[in-house]
Amino acid sequence: MKALVVYESMFGNTRRVAESIAIGMSEYADVTVLNINRVNPDKLVDLDLLVVGAPTHAHTISTSASRKEAERQSTQPARRLRLERDASGMGVREWIESIPAATGLCAAFDTRADVLKLLSGAASTTIDKRLRRKGLRAVMDPESFLVSIQGELNPDESTHAQEWGATVARAAEMPTFT
Ligand SMILES: Cc1cc2nc3c(=O)[nH]c(=O)nc-3n(C[C@H](O)[C@H](O)[C@H](O)COP(=O)(O)O)c2cc1C
Repeated sequence: MKALVVYESMFGNTRRVAESIAIGMSEYADVTVLNINRVNPDKLVDLDLLVVGAPTHAHTISTSASRKEAERQSTQPARRLRLERDASGMGVREWIESIPAATGLCAAFDTRADVLKLLSGAASTTIDKRLRRKGLRAVMDPESFLVSIQGELNPDESTHAQEWGATVARAAEMPTFT
């Protein structure tokens, strides 16, 4: 099975989760992990499984305004935030719009604050909806990986991400669709 894990990430949390998900998937799939700004949409044609993740911004997926706000926050020394290499490119919203309609399998994830989902929102819900609108079929419910109020990934989330990646890959081998 050929799988691709793609992510948007301003500060690295979503990238780290994507990398852990790919490790978990690797026992079951030939998996590549890439920032969305490094994916050639033409290469999506022969994929079996597309996994897409992004940070939650203002309760949902980022906009160019929220990404600018993230860049502004990174200039405040007290916050100790470092922008990712591909942070200034497009976000997952524009990326999903840009990809061709497809018939393969998909799964969505996000990173968000470790508070009630009702308060935080979750980018993965929106990603899931938009991927389905493109014609992809979700093999799992969207999943969130949690960060502290200080913006650091909770310590057990890399194990959680590896386990979720393995579950997604196994579900894609025998899909029952959500
Ligand atoms: C502009 C901005 C808006 C955010 N809005 C939310 C939000 O509404 N809900 C939430 O749970 N987290 C929110 N966050 C926190 C991020 O989702 C979280 O820190 C995420 O892990 C960052 O991922 P990244 O390191 O991959 O960029 C926001 C962060 C930024 C910079």
